[in-house]
Amino acid sequence: MNKELLYTGKAKDVYKTDNEDEVIVHFRNDITALDGGKTDSLENKGRYNTLISAKLFEVLESKGVKTQYIDLITSEEMLSKSLKMIPLEVICRNIATGSLIKKYPFQEKQELNPPIIQFDYKNDEFHDPMLNDDIIIALNIATKDDLERIREITRKLNSVLVDFLKEHGIILVDFKIEVGFDKDNNIVVGDEISPDTTRLWDIETGKNFDKDIFRKNESGVVSAYHKVVKAILTPEEQKKWNVE
Ligand code: TYD
Repeated sequence: MNKELLYTGKAKDVYKTDNEDEVIVHFRNDITALDGGKTDSLENKGRYNTLISAKLFEVLESKGVKTQYIDLITSEEMLSKSLKMIPLEVICRNIATGSLIKKYPFQEKQELNPPIIQFDYKNDEFHDPMLNDDIIIALNIATKDDLERIREITRKLNSVLVDFLKEHGIILVDFKIEVGFDKDNNIVVGDEISPDTTRLWDIETGKNFDKDIFRKNESGVVSAYHKVVKAILTPEEQKKWNVE
């Protein structure tokens, strides 16, 4: 298989395949926070994020939400549809925490119903500023119709994942997704959905199972990600991918 590197990001590499409609996404062990100001490499993190993303993408596909996911090649490599990415970070929040309570007078843990959807510009030079619809349209990032469709996809994805994770003892507090156009010009969900890009709280204890542990300089990042794998993969899937 042709393994030419197409793109390298903060925690993933994307490789070409012999088919121009497909790419291979390799999840590395690197972890970053604070706008790249805090970095580390954690054994098994790439593997756990691959398995969690693949599982959540499979759940979404089964409920009619289109994603980039095609199949797992190994427990660190995902065969994916090649997308033309839209440079937005689509953030959706069910519970107020993190930057939202730093910037606005929400109460910590306040329930947000309906969920809040927010768009940040994926642009390192400008430090990912928050956008509104007029700015997005004026910058030609997406059209009004695209934005309507992205909101619709995000709401559906949120409700599917809230229900699925709740069945497995996890609260989906908030998350970031990225979307792009597939070869037929449909907007589909790309990138990853993992503890790096979500806030996941234990229903019983309220403890984090996500990157907040790393952001707060606490230990146990990988063991928290491992708990998510154990909670959401079936015993057969865990056996197949040698999850201990
Ligand atoms: P947010 O509360 O805005 O950020 P912070 O981590 O600075 O408090 O994040 C909301 C959710 O979106 C959270 O689950 C993390 C995720 N997210 C990313 O994965 N990448 C990003 O660049 C941003 C801004 C958020």
